[in-house]
Amino acid sequence: MLFEPYKIKNTLLKNRIAMAPMTRNQSPGGIPTNDVVSYYKRRAEAEVGLIITEGVEVSHKASSAYPNVPRLDSKKARDGWKRVVGGIKEHDGAVIAQLWHCGGFRKLGMAPNPEVPGHTASGLVRPGKRVAHAMSSDDIKETIDAFASDAKYCEEIGFDGVEIHGAHGYLIDNFFWNGTNERKDLYGGSIEKRSQLAANIVKAIRSNVSDNFIVGLRFSQWKQQDYEAKLATSSEELLKVIKQPVDAGLDYLHSSMRRFWESEFKGSDENLAFWTKKLTGLPTISVGSVGLDSDFIDMSAPASPRNIDKAISDISNKKYDMVAVGRALLADHEWVIKMREGRIKDIIPYTKEALYKLY
Ligand SMILES: Cc1cc2nc3c(=O)[nH]c(=O)nc-3n(C[C@H](O)[C@H](O)[C@H](O)COP(=O)(O)O)c2cc1C
Repeated sequence: MLFEPYKIKNTLLKNRIAMAPMTRNQSPGGIPTNDVVSYYKRRAEAEVGLIITEGVEVSHKASSAYPNVPRLDSKKARDGWKRVVGGIKEHDGAVIAQLWHCGGFRKLGMAPNPEVPGHTASGLVRPGKRVAHAMSSDDIKETIDAFASDAKYCEEIGFDGVEIHGAHGYLIDNFFWNGTNERKDLYGGSIEKRSQLAANIVKAIRSNVSDNFIVGLRFSQWKQQDYEAKLATSSEELLKVIKQPVDAGLDYLHSSMRRFWESEFKGSDENLAFWTKKLTGLPTISVGSVGLDSDFIDMSAPASPRNIDKAISDISNKKYDMVAVGRALLADHEWVIKMREGRIKDIIPYTKEALYKLY
C-alpha cells in the first residue's frame, strides 16, 4: 500500500510518502530562488507523493528566528512560491506549505524587526527561563490572523493545503506544553485550554479558505528544549491535546517522532501516529528516522539507508496512513523510486554535506 495512490480530501497523491518539512535557509529576503524551485521540482519528478515545504514564516512581526527562511509577505516571495508550486505541478505532484511561527527561538536583534523580542505564552522559552515577551490577547489575535491570511495566500498561489507547525517547541507547542504555558486565561490552565491557540488558528484558517483546501497540524511530544518532554502521558491525555484542533476542522495530523518504531505509552508497543489515528480517525503521517539507521538527534551525524519493512507493514495494517521522510530525501532525491524498486544499495547515504547543498 505504501507505494500506491492515496487521497486526502480531493488531492490525489501518487503514494503515501511525504517529504518532511525541512528548513534550508536558502531564500534570501524570504523569497524562494530558482534553486529552491528546482530542488522541490526534482523531488516531485522523482515521485515523492506529497511535498511538505520547509517552514514558511507567517506574516507576523515576531515569527522569524533564522536567516533566509522563506515568507509570504511580499509579492516577490509569493511569486517565488508560485514558481515552486508550478514546478511541482508540472510533474503532477502535491504540495502543502508548512506555516511556522518560531515563538521563543527568536532573540532581540534578529531580522527583520530587530527591536521585537521572541513571543511565547508566558515569557518562558523553556521551563524556568523567562526571557521572551508574554503574549497579550492582541498579540495572539494578530498571530491567528497572520496564519489565516497566509493560508489564503497559499490557496491563491496554488498549494493543495497548509500544515500548521505545532511541534518541536516553537510557538504553538510552547502553548501546548505545561512547562512553558502558565497562562490563566482562555489559552492556559488545562490541557484543553493549552490547545486553544492551535484550535483557534485552525478555525480562522478554515473560515478563510475553501472546503477542498487541506489543513493539517504537525505536533510532537519532544521539544528541542527537552527531548524527553511529553504533552500527554496516556492516550486519554493525548485526546485532550488534539481534540479541539481536530474539531475545529483539521484534515490530517502529522505526529512528529524522532524514532518512529518506539512505543509511545506504557503497556503498548504502538507509536504516536498509531494513537493519533486511533483517537481521531483522521489521516495521520508518521515520521522519524524512516529508512535510516541513525536517529534524528544530531543532524550532522551520518546515517545509512535501511529497509522500510516496518513502515510498509504498519501502513498495510492501517496503523497510520503515510510516512514522512526527511534526511533520507535530502541526501537522495530519488529515494522513493529506489526504495520502491528495492535498490537500497543504490541509495545515497545521508551525511551532513546534504545540509549545505540544495540539490
Ligand atoms: C535540515 C532539517 C530541517 C528541518 N526543518 C524543519 C521544519 O522547518 N519544520 C519541521 O516541522 N521540521 C523540520 N525538521 C524535522 C523534519 O521534518 C523531520 O521531522 C526530522 O528530520 C525527522 O525525520 P528524518 O529522520 O526522516 O530526518 C527538519 C529536519 C532537518 C534535518
